[in-house]
Amino acid sequence: MRRKLAAGNWKMNGLRASLKELEKLKAAHPDPACDILICPPATLLAPAVDMCWSTPVQIGGQTCHHKLAGPHTGDISAEMLKDVGASAVILGHSERRADHRETSEDVRMLAQSAQEVGLTTIICVGESLFQREATNTLDIIGGQLSLSIPDTSNGENLVVAYEPVWAIGTGQVPTTNQIGEVHDFMRDRLEARFGYGVGKSVRLLYGGSVKAANADEIFAISNVDGALVGGASLKAADFTPIISAL
Ligand code: G3H
Repeated sequence: MRRKLAAGNWKMNGLRASLKELEKLKAAHPDPACDILICPPATLLAPAVDMCWSTPVQIGGQTCHHKLAGPHTGDISAEMLKDVGASAVILGHSERRADHRETSEDVRMLAQSAQEVGLTTIICVGESLFQREATNTLDIIGGQLSLSIPDTSNGENLVVAYEPVWAIGTGQVPTTNQIGEVHDFMRDRLEARFGYGVGKSVRLLYGGSVKAANADEIFAISNVDGALVGGASLKAADFTPIISAL
């Protein structure tokens, strides 16, 4: 039985004042039915961990470097995330792939490094609108899965997030059939590569314009084990009903 996961990606949003949202989140979910993860910007990681220590709200990073230390100005290593108290890290988000030209091979190196220090890796995959319209979605997802996920992955240290690029922050959401098709395909691919037991235990999240209003419908789709939420994770009042829907 896979435990559901509600993950919030704050992206490049959040000042110290935003930490009050974590207080509200903790208060709203003292004993949640799912795992809760918030990935704030790096500047807020330490205070966020301090505020959420020993509560159901876990804290994660939004990316990391593939090396554990060294001359890489501005970068943060997986070991640093672990050291500050993060339990997970998002890797290969389409915004990283676009803004920082991260390839799937790059993402696999980052994931190897993160898994090596004991972080859960949330590896993002997703097609562009052009690729979907060209009916290439499953080819794209299959390629990203096989190249981005390291061999060291298992049901504990790997979560995969399906995020169609065209659904991120747009209010456009794929149909339930479209989401279901991709999630079933990802499950099959993971079972084929890692064996039935491991493939079955990896959690698969959907991300892209998840809101309270569509959460129930999305979470009812087979092989959807939770969500990676951007905009609607910034305020506890918006994220709380999504968490409660799981
Ligand atoms: O990581 C989160 C996703 O990019 C989804 O963002 O919920 O604002 O569409 P969104």
